[in-house]
Amino acid sequence: MAELPGKALAQELIGASREEASATPFSAVVAAARHGTLDEPAVVRLMGRLWTLERMFYYIYGGWGQGLEINDFPPSVKYLFSKQIVDESTHEMMYLDALLRRGAVATQKQAFEAPYGRFAVDSALAYYVFSLRNLATYPHPIRIAALNLGPKVVEFGWMEELSVATSDTELRAVFASQAVENRSHINMGRRIVEEFIGRPVDAELCRWACAVARRDYGRFLHELSDFVLDRSTAPPPMPRVQVTD
Ligand SMILES: [Fe+2]
Repeated sequence: MAELPGKALAQELIGASREEASATPFSAVVAAARHGTLDEPAVVRLMGRLWTLERMFYYIYGGWGQGLEINDFPPSVKYLFSKQIVDESTHEMMYLDALLRRGAVATQKQAFEAPYGRFAVDSALAYYVFSLRNLATYPHPIRIAALNLGPKVVEFGWMEELSVATSDTELRAVFASQAVENRSHINMGRRIVEEFIGRPVDAELCRWACAVARRDYGRFLHELSDFVLDRSTAPPPMPRVQVTD
């Protein structure tokens, strides 16, 4: 079998994301869980905020799906993407179920009204969502490289750490149960990059998109950690871009 053209690039992107995963703003939440100081309201804020993020993936993937045409990619690529959409909607429901089970809310409607369930346009969560949605205009392998070899690698890392750190069995189950699906999304991203990214120009686009997605996810993680721990720390600096026209 011929060597897959994007093999080295996939390793490069995964490597950069693993490095970022080793030190994220979320480590403060993991530490709180380890020390037993992540109390019930904090756990509810965490799951509520992640529910709010997950439900936005309907909007992101809806945009991405519009960019897929008949015969542009082998059916396997579209099958894997639809699998990812299904998995993500399972995660969304799982967070809401957990909120209901813990008695944080009595109905789904209440969750939408809680501070952790509200979608605010002026937030790092929204910024990250719009950043991903914006990738709808790029070819599918580029955006899959950005998300699946970027934020998903970082997310995989902290979810694993948190499920080890917490003694709350339900919280552990919520995160540990996502590991198989998230790992398959990362593997799927790796495979798509290996197979479909051959030209240097596409490789450069992957590097750029992956770095942007990772940066914006990092800002979300910072906002999330502050929100969960009910504190306010300085956000990571925003790169300044000079626009001339
Ligand atoms: Fe997910």
